[in-house]
Amino acid sequence: MHQDIKEILFTEAQIKQRVQELGRAITRDYAGKPVVLCGILKGAVTFFTDLARTIEAPVQFDFMSCSSYGDGTTSSGSLTIRKDLDTDVRGKDLLVVEDIIDTGVTLSHLVPLLQERGARSVKLATLLSKPSRRQVEVPVTYNGFEIPDAFVVGYGLDYAGLYRNLPYIGVLKENVYQA
Ligand code: PRP
Ligand code: MN
Ligand code: MG
Repeated sequence: MHQDIKEILFTEAQIKQRVQELGRAITRDYAGKPVVLCGILKGAVTFFTDLARTIEAPVQFDFMSCSSYGDGTTSSGSLTIRKDLDTDVRGKDLLVVEDIIDTGVTLSHLVPLLQERGARSVKLATLLSKPSRRQVEVPVTYNGFEIPDAFVVGYGLDYAGLYRNLPYIGVLKENVYQA
């Protein structure tokens, strides 16, 4: 285990199993219809690539960078689009893929935006959710795990840009962010 990690919340094997379950549900629900997976950079990348490979349907990949965090541990409450989708979403079924829903601010801005652009449907898949932190309700169709309000990293999730490559999800030691 990495020296900055206090505790492993989900092992590689646990994540893999849950991702497969989500992929089966998505496969069943879309029933062969094309779906555009919209990954939210950067945190969702790991979940996105694993999830995509469990879905049996015609899938397209697209990515967006829209962040509500800086380098710190708290949400700024506003949304910045740094990179937009390439796809013309009109008439398309979109599945937005996130690593974590915290306050819900990011997706509460993003979902209406994609609907206004004429997407036929916009659903959400997230690996993690912190319900105790929610400021805005967002309807999540595919939710991997609900977690307590701990600072988690790994499997795409970062602190100050680091730890994204850890293959598990762990809780960061307090001394790492309490300078
Ligand atoms: C994190 C996370 C979600 C968002 C969730 O991204 O990956 O995208 O914050 O927070 P919210 O529900 O409070 O809006 P971050 O802004 O840290 O960027 P990153 O994915 O590049 O790490
Ligand atoms: Mn993110
Ligand atoms: Mg982040």
